Amino acid sequence: MSQQEQWRSKIGFVLAAAGSAIGLGAIWKFPYVAGTGGGGAFLLLFLVFTLVLGMPLLLGEFMIGRMGQSNAVRTYGKLASNTKWNFIGKLGVFTSFLLLSFYSVVGGWIILYIVKVLSGGLAGLSQDQYGELFGEIISNPYSTISAQLVFMLITILVVAQGVQKGIELASKIMMPALVILFLILVIRSLSLDGAMEGVKFLLVPDFSKLTSESILFALGQAFFTLSLGVSVMLTYASYLPKSQNLPRSAISIIILNIVIALLAGLAIFPGVFSFGMEPNAGPVLIFSVLPAVFAHMPFGMVFFLAFLLLFLFAALTSAFSMIEIIVAAVTKNDTAKRKKATWIIGFLIFIVGIPSCLSYGALSEIYLFNKTIFDLMDYLVSNILMPLGALLIAIFVSQKVSKADLFAELKRGSNVGYVFFMICYVLLKYVVPIAIVIVFLDAAGLSDWIITLFK
Ligand code: PHE
Repeated sequence: MSQQEQWRSKIGFVLAAAGSAIGLGAIWKFPYVAGTGGGGAFLLLFLVFTLVLGMPLLLGEFMIGRMGQSNAVRTYGKLASNTKWNFIGKLGVFTSFLLLSFYSVVGGWIILYIVKVLSGGLAGLSQDQYGELFGEIISNPYSTISAQLVFMLITILVVAQGVQKGIELASKIMMPALVILFLILVIRSLSLDGAMEGVKFLLVPDFSKLTSESILFALGQAFFTLSLGVSVMLTYASYLPKSQNLPRSAISIIILNIVIALLAGLAIFPGVFSFGMEPNAGPVLIFSVLPAVFAHMPFGMVFFLAFLLLFLFAALTSAFSMIEIIVAAVTKNDTAKRKKATWIIGFLIFIVGIPSCLSYGALSEIYLFNKTIFDLMDYLVSNILMPLGALLIAIFVSQKVSKADLFAELKRGSNVGYVFFMICYVLLKYVVPIAIVIVFLDAAGLSDWIITLFK
């Protein structure tokens, strides 16, 4: 079959797209940015940004993806009848490539933790020792590179099978397992002494804790967790039949994403407060705090292992989507070329990711633009390339595609009203671009400068 593949079931698409969305962003990044950004107030902002900005962008990618019925690169030129617009897709492909190169490093850390738990090396340490252990684990060049390679191999093996068999089946099993395991973890966490402190921290907003930086973090977090701005959602929607209800799919994905982020918070913060730990521990939060939390419980390591497995699943389903868009674009959706292309691209991503991997060990002394290689890659992708892509997509959808065509596309498979469409359209045309420009100004360090101008 050399033409466009299609999803086999409606729920398959929703699970795969939700699988792309839910990953390190919701489980690893959300708790630590919420922890540093003030808890409840941050959560509230994240919810507002997800609904007001994420929702129209997600629908925008869905609409043009299904309209174009092609890969990330060709869709733009096809819809605008001018191939010069293909650069938006190329940017997305490039961004996904870089993103997966360091995403796979963190994926590797999860694998190393799983090995550590299975070998009994994580039981019964003190809280400080867990922090030290994290440092030791991520600084060993041999094990981290091997684990990164394993993570990439799993990704390649699944995606090489093709959209239907690979991604869809994997997501169908993984996503429900994720929710169930999370519920168990949350119940465990909530039964701890003093758990309510953590629940309050997460759910009761204290606006005095908000800073301009945490507001922008909440904005970036909303884009990152929904996989927006890199044409991943566009590519997944291109495999859709016209009968799929796009608004309903988007809403399901957004709700699932919010639920997982909330569950992650509810699994982590009660433990953090119950044991008198700090909620603002940063990126190490999950890796150093959770094992300590679970170690204090009966069967703690069994629960931690379950958590790590679902964490790995979630990271993998996101990784699948990143490599899928590159493969679809490079092979121009020719399934005969898929296997070979996936192997070559996956291997290249692994090679490009090695410096990021080593930046916690052998290359930890190397600083570029004041950042380690890993941080620089993350910064480039999360703070520059992804918001830039989202900005371009918002502009493309609202300026280059006719409003009537968009509404007609949205209505296929759904009975969505014109008012809902217009709200999304106006948000996409005006609110989304303005909000993204604010993120950019912050990334360039200009927001403080502008604030002082107005003071
Ligand atoms: N949404 C994914 C996560 O939260 C990251 C991602 C971004 C995946 C962009 C694909 C494209 O982990």
